[in-house]
Amino acid sequence: MIFGIPELDFHSYATWLELGLAVLTMISVFIISAPYGRHMRGGWGPEVNSRAGWIIMEFPTVLVFGGIYLLGDHKFDLVPLMLLSIWQFHYIRRTFIYPFLLRGQKGKTMPQSIALTAVVFNSLNAYVNARWISHLGIYTDDWLTHPAFIAGLVVFLTGWGINTWADRVLRDLRAPGETGYKIPRGGLYEYVTCPNYLGEIIEWFGWALATLSLPGLAFAIYTAANIGPRAGTNHAWYLEKFPDYPKKRKRLIPFIW
Ligand SMILES: NC(=O)c1ccc[n+]([C@@H]2O[C@H](COP(=O)([O-])OP(=O)(O)OC[C@H]3O[C@@H](n4cnc5c(N)ncnc54)[C@H](OP(=O)(O)O)[C@@H]3O)[C@@H](O)[C@H]2O)c1
Repeated sequence: MIFGIPELDFHSYATWLELGLAVLTMISVFIISAPYGRHMRGGWGPEVNSRAGWIIMEFPTVLVFGGIYLLGDHKFDLVPLMLLSIWQFHYIRRTFIYPFLLRGQKGKTMPQSIALTAVVFNSLNAYVNARWISHLGIYTDDWLTHPAFIAGLVVFLTGWGINTWADRVLRDLRAPGETGYKIPRGGLYEYVTCPNYLGEIIEWFGWALATLSLPGLAFAIYTAANIGPRAGTNHAWYLEKFPDYPKKRKRLIPFIW
């Protein structure tokens, strides 16, 4: 029981809350671009150094997820351990390595309110997904050979490869100490403005497939709802800033949008 509610029901409410937040987030970010990175602007209250902001935003994905995972009855089972490894493979890097790889962050900040909002969402999502894989979901050893798990793993790794490659291309646009923006070129950048977001969305749909679960799907949908519209905002920003920005390049999905 949690707050007097049977845990399965409580978890289901939390999962549907995450899906509801996906809808709210998508509407909000279509109307107002989240104020960080190139879209950072004043008027959002106290600010925090952007590198520290990234670590604060993302730490629940590693620590809250890990803590909730460890409370589960199936924490030592093979498939839950595999799923934990997949998750942490992405998030340990994103939380503790990625912020230190970024270039040109000297003097850059983000609103504390954005970092705190992300902490709340990431904690909710950590509960929804970690509790599912180590306690509420049923993953016996034969799940390892299930087509959904194998396909999900392939999709996840493909997305991860695209995301980390695309993030590296952006980093390499700046020499150490540079802070400005240039047009990224080559590979998937010839087709879309934000292959890093595309890769991230693919990754979490891979997770949804590998877990074949509503919690996994809720996070994949939330990710698409959050960064999908931002790809549109970034694309419009490039078109405005660079008169020679490639006109055939789409926002997020090659040849389509
Ligand atoms: N799961 C989720 O819901 C979620 C949400 C947000 C982000 N993410 C992931 O987090 C990562 C970063 O996201 P983001 O929104 O910060 O990505 P971004 O806007 O593409 O920026 C990534 C980094 O590259 C730099 N950069 C971007 N475009 C550049 C250009 N044209 N020239 C030079 N430098 C450039 C940025 O510098 P500045 O900081 O100076 O702008 C920043 O350091 C991505 O992999 C994304 O998928 C995931």
